[in-house]
Amino acid sequence: KRPAGAPDRELAKPVKKVGIIGAGLMASQFALLFARKLRVPVLITDLDQSRVDKGLEHISGEIDQMQEKGRLTADDANQVRALVRGTTDTGEYADCDWVIEAVFEELGVKQQVFAEIEPIIPETAVIATNTSSLSVEEIGARLTRPERLVGFHFFNPVAVMPLVEVVRTPGTDDATLATAMAVAKQLGKSAVITADRPGFVVNRLLAKVMGEAARALDEGTPMPVVERALAPIGLPMGPFELIDLVGWKVAAHVQDTMAGAFPDRFYASPNLHALADLDEPLVKSKHGKVEDLSRAAKKQLKL
Ligand code: 3HC
Repeated sequence: KRPAGAPDRELAKPVKKVGIIGAGLMASQFALLFARKLRVPVLITDLDQSRVDKGLEHISGEIDQMQEKGRLTADDANQVRALVRGTTDTGEYADCDWVIEAVFEELGVKQQVFAEIEPIIPETAVIATNTSSLSVEEIGARLTRPERLVGFHFFNPVAVMPLVEVVRTPGTDDATLATAMAVAKQLGKSAVITADRPGFVVNRLLAKVMGEAARALDEGTPMPVVERALAPIGLPMGPFELIDLVGWKVAAHVQDTMAGAFPDRFYASPNLHALADLDEPLVKSKHGKVEDLSRAAKKQLKL
């Protein structure tokens, strides 16, 4: 059955080489997924070789773990390893038919990245962005062919989370949308098509939970109390454990975007921002249960 709003799947274009811009945590997680599931060459790039190397190391470590756990045979592991390559030369993207970016969540940076890559890639290539809450249409403002732009939003941890949000802008054409839906399916993900609105669907809901948890912290409720209080609701993770997983910077950015778009409905927490400045995991866990904020976090908040 065709998902709501999906165009005819016959329109989907084949993807024979994937180009990923960014080699950070999200990018390297989905680079591995593309290689494993599509079995096509995957290129990653970043600002400098050391960032590219870090991404490749992360991917290699994940492949080792999957092999150890018996999820990849030795042959498969070798094949997947050989498919992912890193480069700082975007010229190598000339034959990629699917390009996706996961660079810093700043509109200008993403616009710049696409303005640079568009003249290099084939005319028919799909351009995707993994933005969590920025306007996909605005990200494509400097493209000469914005009809081939689509949002393709993964969730952390990429290997496990079953969903991709496919974001259609008013300009996205049917072939691009059909290709995005086909790629999601090949990746083993279910896809929902969402409008290009701040936070799409998932982050609009999650930002409420995270924002209110941060507000409780701002109001003096200790973090472990918030986590414990929410446990009976049955979330797979408490709100702070989740913030720690997605990254404090990313979480603060999502809150800012939502509060900027809907000031009367969302809350940008000062404590969340103070902790995001530290840019590191800040939750201490014991036996899989969140215990407290880390020492660095408490120092930052003067607790
Ligand atoms: N990479 C690969 N596999 C992972 C993984 C990772 N980082 N983390 C966990 N897994 C796998 C484990 O290996 C395990 O697989 P198995 O059952 O085959 O052995 C399976 O996931 C379950 O893991 P665990 O048993 O260790 O732990 P849990 O049962 O507690 O599950 C969890 C961990 C899947 C992360 C679960 O806690 C969860 O679903 N958390 C919520 C995550 C979530 O909501 N993510 C969305 C964040 S929002 C976002 O990303 C958007 C952004 O824009 C902000």
